[in-house]
Amino acid sequence: MAKVKTQYVCQNCGYISPRYLGRCPNCNEWNTLVEETIAPKSNSVRAAGLRRTGVDNSQPEPLSHVKFQSEPRFKTGMAELNRVLGGGVVPGSLILIGGDPGIGKSTLMLQVSGQLSKSGKILYVSGEESASQIKMRADRLDVDSDQLYVFPETDMNVIKSTISEMKPDAVVIDSVQTMQIPELQSATGSVAQIREVTADLMNIAKGQGITVFVVGHVTKGGAIAGPKILEHMVDTVLYFEGDLHHSYRILRTVKNRFGSTNELGVFEMMTDGLHEVTNPSEIFLEERLKDATGSAIVVSMEGTRPILVEIQALVTASVFGNATRTATGLDRNRVSLIMAVLEKRAGLLLQNQDAYLKAAGGVKLDEPAIDLAMAVSIASSYKNRGTSQLNVMSVNWD
Ligand code: TYD
Ligand code: MG
Repeated sequence: MAKVKTQYVCQNCGYISPRYLGRCPNCNEWNTLVEETIAPKSNSVRAAGLRRTGVDNSQPEPLSHVKFQSEPRFKTGMAELNRVLGGGVVPGSLILIGGDPGIGKSTLMLQVSGQLSKSGKILYVSGEESASQIKMRADRLDVDSDQLYVFPETDMNVIKSTISEMKPDAVVIDSVQTMQIPELQSATGSVAQIREVTADLMNIAKGQGITVFVVGHVTKGGAIAGPKILEHMVDTVLYFEGDLHHSYRILRTVKNRFGSTNELGVFEMMTDGLHEVTNPSEIFLEERLKDATGSAIVVSMEGTRPILVEIQALVTASVFGNATRTATGLDRNRVSLIMAVLEKRAGLLLQNQDAYLKAAGGVKLDEPAIDLAMAVSIASSYKNRGTSQLNVMSVNWD
C-alpha cells in the first residue's frame, strides 16, 4: 500500500513545510503548524485545478483589444451595504463577510438575499441551518420569495453542480468554514479545505459571472480563520462588528477591489432583523451626559462620510505601581503617546494615573485627527472639568 504522504501547514498563514516546525518561518507564530495528509489528486480535483488556472481558452492579448462591457453595479436594496461595497455589487465578484459568531452575518445575508431576489434568482447555501430553520428566520425578517432558493448542503461538489444547473444570479455561502471538498482528507474548516473551497467559489464567480457572498467566522484573535489565504483570494472583505450586548452593528470594508476601503455601514439589530441607521452620529452621541467630565466630541471621516463620535476618558490615580492604559475602539499606543505629550508639554502629572479611553457607540477610530479629542478628554477627566459645548479646545489647563 502506498504510504500516506503528509505535510505541515501553518493554520495562521498557510505556509507549507515538509516537517514539523515549532515556529512558522513565514508569520513567526508559534505552534501553528498542523499535520495534514496530501490526498492523491483525484480526477475531479485535477480538473478543478486546471480550470482554476484559467488556461482553457485564454490567450495573452493586447490591453487595447480587451473588450470591457461596463456592467452596471446592482443595488442591494440596502443603502448602507451599497455604500460599503463602493456603490453596489459588481456582478461576478466574490465578497467575504467576516464577523464574530452571533453578530448577525446570517441575518444580514438572508435580508440581502431577500432584497436581491426581487430582481434575480438567488441561491442561499447553508452549512449551519436546516431549510426549516432558515424559513423560521426568514419569517421573522419578513423575507419571502419564489426566486430565493435555500439549500442546506456542505459538499462543494454538489453545490457546484447545483449552481451549474440552476444558474442563479447570486449565491450566498454560509459559512466557508462548514463547506468541504470530499477529495481532501483534511478536516472541515482547516486551512487546506478553506483554501480549496474559496478557490472553487472564485471559479464560480469569475467563470460564470455569478456574484458570490461568503460568510466567514472570525477566530478568537480577531482574524478570519485562515485569514491571509481568504483575504488574498476574494475581491471584497467586509467585517461585521459590534458589541453583542448592544444593538448596533457596524459593517466595515477592509479590502475592496472595486471601491474605497474604510467605509462604514451602520445597522441596528431589532427583533425583526437589521435596520439601517442613516444618521450614525445620532446614535453615537445618544447616551452622552451633558457637562460630563472626560468627554469630547470629534468629527471623524469614515470613508466618504463624516461621523460625530464621543471620546470618553476616565483618569484615576493608580493603586498599584504600574499605571494602566486601556483603550476601546482606539489605539492604546496612541493613548500612551498622547498622555506622554500631555505630561511633558502641558505639565499634567499623568504617570501615576490609570487611563481608560473609549470611542462611544462601538466604533473603531484610527485617524490622527482624533488625537486632539483624546488629549482634551484625558485632560478633562484628570482636571475633573467639563469640556465646553461650543469649543472643544477651550479646556482650561490650570
Ligand atoms: P446570526 O445572524 O445568526 O449571527 P451569525 O450568523 O453572525 O452567527 O444572528 C444571531 C443573533 O441575532 C442572535 O443572537 C439573535 C439576533 N437576532 C435578532 O436580534 N433579531 C432577528 O431578527 C434575528 C434573525 C436575530
Ligand atoms: Mg450564522
